[in-house]
Amino acid sequence: MVFLRNNTDVCLTGIKGFDEYLGGIPRGSLIVVIGHPGAGKTTFAAKFLYEGARRFGERGLYVGFGEPVRKFRMFMKELGMDFEDLESKGLIKIITLPVLATKDAADMLTETIIRAVNNFKPKRLVIDNLPAVVDILGDIAGRAFLHTTLYNILNREEVTTIVISDVYRGDKKPIVPSVEVIADGVILMKAEIRGGLIVRKLIIEKMKGKKMPVAEVPFSLVKGEGIIVFAPALTYDIPAPKLPTSIKLRCEPLHKAVGPVYVGSQIIVCAPPGMTLPPEVMVSLLRTIAEDGIKVLLISLTNPSISIWCRIESQARKYGISLSELKKLIKIISLNPTAYSITELMSTIMTEVENYKPEVLVLHGLEALNVLYPQREFMSFYLNVITRFRKKAITTIYVISSSITDDKSPIVNASDIVLALSTPLAIRGTYSVKIDILKSYLGEPKTIFTDYLRECLQETEHA
Ligand SMILES: Nc1ncnc2c1ncn2[C@@H]1O[C@H](COP(=O)(O)OP(=O)(O)O)[C@@H](O)[C@H]1O
Ligand SMILES: [Mg+2]
Repeated sequence: MVFLRNNTDVCLTGIKGFDEYLGGIPRGSLIVVIGHPGAGKTTFAAKFLYEGARRFGERGLYVGFGEPVRKFRMFMKELGMDFEDLESKGLIKIITLPVLATKDAADMLTETIIRAVNNFKPKRLVIDNLPAVVDILGDIAGRAFLHTTLYNILNREEVTTIVISDVYRGDKKPIVPSVEVIADGVILMKAEIRGGLIVRKLIIEKMKGKKMPVAEVPFSLVKGEGIIVFAPALTYDIPAPKLPTSIKLRCEPLHKAVGPVYVGSQIIVCAPPGMTLPPEVMVSLLRTIAEDGIKVLLISLTNPSISIWCRIESQARKYGISLSELKKLIKIISLNPTAYSITELMSTIMTEVENYKPEVLVLHGLEALNVLYPQREFMSFYLNVITRFRKKAITTIYVISSSITDDKSPIVNASDIVLALSTPLAIRGTYSVKIDILKSYLGEPKTIFTDYLRECLQETEHA
């Protein structure tokens, strides 16, 4: 195994989004993670141990109470963490202690933990969780345990520790409030139900030596990944798209009008409600995909994938584009936006993108979010998504069925290419769609009519 070198002052958690936001946690610190049962605390702490071992070769010790080790391993495996493998490599040690309160429990607890720390010499330690300790020891002995034992261990500079503390619904404060006072960091994890949908967020209440610009950060628990944190990027200043690689549209007049489409560009296409993409544009796109072998992921929030495939199929047949090639390259997923909170939707999209690794992502039917969420949330979803995909150099096309209005200005302005389609007009005996290219890398707005693009259909139809 080859391990990455982890900074000596900072302990990276390996949790996606969290390290980017916080820059890791101070090495040797004690972090308390509090929250209701089911909030995601164990997942957070487990990921911290798992990635520490897997990526940095840092030994991790998990001390749990009550829950059998077998169950812990099983739940975590579901979330993409194979602890057994790391245990067999000597990088992880999991111990669970009985929750029976006995006279000797305090000594046993102290001794077991200290012995494990001394023998195993972990760099990362998780104690899950405090109320269990207090259940075993009682309130006073529990505090004594914390003060004498825990803080002693925790004072060793090389061990970074997460102590989990459950709070029960209705309780505002954790069971052992003194821990929060001496902790270097306090993270509150919440799972709220909004409109019947689960919304998870974490609040960094305290983190020594860090300035916290955003108080509440959404996160999501994801099968196969564990936990992803969605801290908004603090700036849009991210590396420019990988110039000068660009996608060349297979339709000369369209290509000329739109200009270069650099890899990583964020493109908005607004079309009037109910209108399908004109064949001139659709066929050019399909041909470009097929000929250049571009891997595309299309996620629709409004249409079932089968109906989109039908349209693609009929155009591909009519204009002689290889359907088998398209089927190899295009993956279509349809998500019902009312079944997800906006954070869960974002995490689902991110996970799909990470799994399929497309070069071009099409997010279709974004107007659904515009209807479901207040303007502010829609905006923040959009700006977050746009920043993420630009950073990952994934060319993204956002298809919104509506006209461009003032209230969309932030998202339109943040995009690199903006196309606005109008309702078809009868021109010279055929229907034509006006396409306003409001923004492009060419630096000047342009307008084209699809009847002017018809040669792109004809030319190749007979070719
Ligand atoms: N495979 C999974 N995918 C997504 N979420 C899951 C999965 N397995 C469990 N969860 C969610 O994880 C939560 C439990 O997380 P956990 O870290 O054990 O919380 P806590 O330790 O705060 O009680 C549950 O609310 C459950 O909904
Ligand atoms: Mg737990």
